Amino acid sequence: MHILSASAVTAVLAFTLLLSSTTITAHNITAILNKYPEFSTFNHYLTETHLAAEINRRITITVCAVDNAGMADVLAKHLSISAMKNVLSLHVLLDYFGAKKLHQITDGTALAATMFQATGTATGTSGFVNITDLKGGKVGFGAEDNGGVLPASFVKSVDERPYNLSVIQISQILTSPEAEAPAPAPSTQNITKLMSAHGCKVFADTLSASDALKTYEDNVDGGLTIFCPLDDAFKKFQPKFKNLTVAGKQALLESHAVPVYESMQMLKQNNGLMNTLATDGASKFDLTVQNDGDEVTLKTKLVTARITGTLFDEQPLAIYTLNNVLLPKELFKAALSPTPAPAPAPEAADAPKGSKKKKKKSKVANSPSDSPADSPDEDPADQTADDNGAVVSNGGGLVAIVMSVWLVLLQL
Ligand SMILES: *[C@@H]1O[C@H](CO)[C@@H](O)[C@H](O)[C@H]1NC(C)=O
Ligand SMILES: *[C@@H]1O[C@H](CO)[C@@H](O)[C@H](O)[C@H]1NC(C)=O
Ligand SMILES: *[C@@H]1O[C@H](CO)[C@@H](O)[C@H](O)[C@H]1NC(C)=O
Ligand SMILES: *[C@@H]1O[C@H](CO)[C@@H](O)[C@H](O)[C@H]1NC(C)=O
Ligand SMILES: *[C@@H]1O[C@H](CO)[C@@H](O)[C@H](O)[C@H]1NC(C)=O
Repeated sequence: MHILSASAVTAVLAFTLLLSSTTITAHNITAILNKYPEFSTFNHYLTETHLAAEINRRITITVCAVDNAGMADVLAKHLSISAMKNVLSLHVLLDYFGAKKLHQITDGTALAATMFQATGTATGTSGFVNITDLKGGKVGFGAEDNGGVLPASFVKSVDERPYNLSVIQISQILTSPEAEAPAPAPSTQNITKLMSAHGCKVFADTLSASDALKTYEDNVDGGLTIFCPLDDAFKKFQPKFKNLTVAGKQALLESHAVPVYESMQMLKQNNGLMNTLATDGASKFDLTVQNDGDEVTLKTKLVTARITGTLFDEQPLAIYTLNNVLLPKELFKAALSPTPAPAPAPEAADAPKGSKKKKKKSKVANSPSDSPADSPDEDPADQTADDNGAVVSNGGGLVAIVMSVWLVLLQL
């Protein structure tokens, strides 16, 4: 058992190293623009709106930067952060345009898709930028739904990394009524209504009946990310939920949200422990975020849930759907008795894959030995899966590592 633990530790370390190396991307737009103080405002807002991470993840793109003087107009409008994100995402073209290509556009005019279009917020052609070769070698830029006006022009090439990333300077901000449209302020979003309308009605109704709703609402303005279990999963969980005390119910609901805004890209890059709304000093109620290929999973010691979709994403509020209810060990370790009670189906199905990594982690964290005191905490089904799993974990782990590295490489 000890030898196996040691090899498990090695596997975890290798896995962790590989995980952290997967966050290395082809370029870092923040670092590139840092070299040019005249773009500091533009650069600041790329970070603030989390577009920088999105840019770093993509290749074959063009960033149309605007200098600090050119940013003054848009700053004067005092846009909300989500409107600012829309406007700036119009400046990220999903194709590579170096200086040479800009001056050699077929037929002298082209529509370039932008990140505004890719995010799905834009309707019709409003996410496209019109690039047109004008007289005298000038190249004009305008948002497509801007009435045919091309207010900005190409100034110079800033950094070209063919054909991953081109950074060019344009003379002024591109904008459009749709990009600037004020999103409803998040605090006026009815979060239970949003969830009810998109597959999480049971969770939303349960939340509405609990004091946890107030905790959620109090956190929206400062940043809130909600993980709501889909109706099927939460319905199955009802018998266990009913068994909880009022405080237990509230803690369970609060353990399904974190008090910060997390875009999908941020979740993918920031693997590790996260506090939840239920976290309060010693009562940890935390979650582990972990990528599984292109998917993001959330783990407690007892269950692994997968994010199945984005229900809402407008900074500072994000809502994702989950295929499983998160069972905090703080509430359920006593309930999971050592006698082999029939394990609930959804968790049992997840056990072989999820629990192996989880157990390896807990071995590192807890102790060199699996003390007998630990055992009753574990779901018996989980335990069995792990005991078998430990023997094969090196082979299995390596396959998983190789697979995830390949998935990451394929994405780049
Ligand atoms: C990008 O560069 C900035 C500034 O140098 C740095 O703070 C940031 O951590 C870098 N991001 C990544 C993902 O490496
Ligand atoms: C771009 O805008 C110009 C000026 O309004 C227009 O003549 C041209 O047809 C537009 N290009 C495309 C591809 O729509
Ligand atoms: C483009 O990105 C790839 C990785 O995706 C990297 O290997 C290559 O060096 C990059 N090219 C340039 C010119 O930066
Ligand atoms: C949110 O919507 C629900 C109906 O889905 C309604 O019962 C509730 O009163 C609304 N809450 C607020 C604060 O408007
Ligand atoms: C609810 O609690 C009772 C008493 O503790 C227990 O016998 C029963 O199995 C529990 N039901 C569920 C679904 O956990």
